[in-house]
Amino acid sequence: MDNHAVLQWHIDMGCDECVADEPINRFETSAQAAVASASVVSDHAAPAGGSAAASPTAPTSSPQMPATTRGSKTSAAEIDSQLQISNARQAAENAQTIDDLRTAIEAFDGCALKKTATNLVLCDGPADARLMLVGEAPGAEEDRQGVPFVGPSGVLLNAMLDSIGIPREQVMISNSVFWRPPGNRTPTTQETVVCRPFIERLIEIVHPDVLVCVGAPSAHNLLGESQGISRLRGKWYTYQTPKLSAPINATAMFHPAYLLRTPIKKRDAWHDLLMIKRKLADK
Ligand code: URA
Repeated sequence: MDNHAVLQWHIDMGCDECVADEPINRFETSAQAAVASASVVSDHAAPAGGSAAASPTAPTSSPQMPATTRGSKTSAAEIDSQLQISNARQAAENAQTIDDLRTAIEAFDGCALKKTATNLVLCDGPADARLMLVGEAPGAEEDRQGVPFVGPSGVLLNAMLDSIGIPREQVMISNSVFWRPPGNRTPTTQETVVCRPFIERLIEIVHPDVLVCVGAPSAHNLLGESQGISRLRGKWYTYQTPKLSAPINATAMFHPAYLLRTPIKKRDAWHDLLMIKRKLADK
């Protein structure tokens, strides 16, 4: 890696963004947290549950306390992470409407992205949409407006939907995380996992006929698949959670940001769009 690439990496990771007036000594706070949580580890030898890697088909109910094992070397950060996931699940489960969900997410402080973002970017579209798209994370323009897919990717996405005769206004659009990652970096696994209960609940509330994961990170997050997007696209999957009365037809497609950089892939994207249109017509 040359010096320029190293510098760029630091900028992409958000090292140039101020998140507070005073610096925080993380070595000190994690040592304090470790002492404070020592009693949690030994007092709550909880049964396994609340797995951070739960697939959409795994039960969503979970204990309030994170799963820990007596005497295990679980770090304070890991305990905190499990606790935040558990809190997110409970908050999401209680939401009956999109407004409830928005209120729950606004009150949730368990995702670090919230500290650096300007606005919460939850979703855009009708609650009874037949088609739902879930992308990766808001970018700069989305952060400014508090609306998903309104930047350059959104412009292409709108044109793609128009090309199959579906106006964007008829589609529910959301993301895997609800705050812009600093410098548009990829959300970390922790950030994605802690937001997952909320996007799962949004999918349950909307219960679309067709769910489209826009880009590989979204497909990995929601479909529990790990292959690259080129292998995942063009196929149907079923998305199911315990609260859904019936499974949802789900697929994955190239992210418009990728299509802007790699226009040759628009040909595949066109096939995917036609496949989605056919599935909606069949339902
Ligand atoms: N890219 C995404 O994945 N989501 C947005 O909202 C904008 C760009």
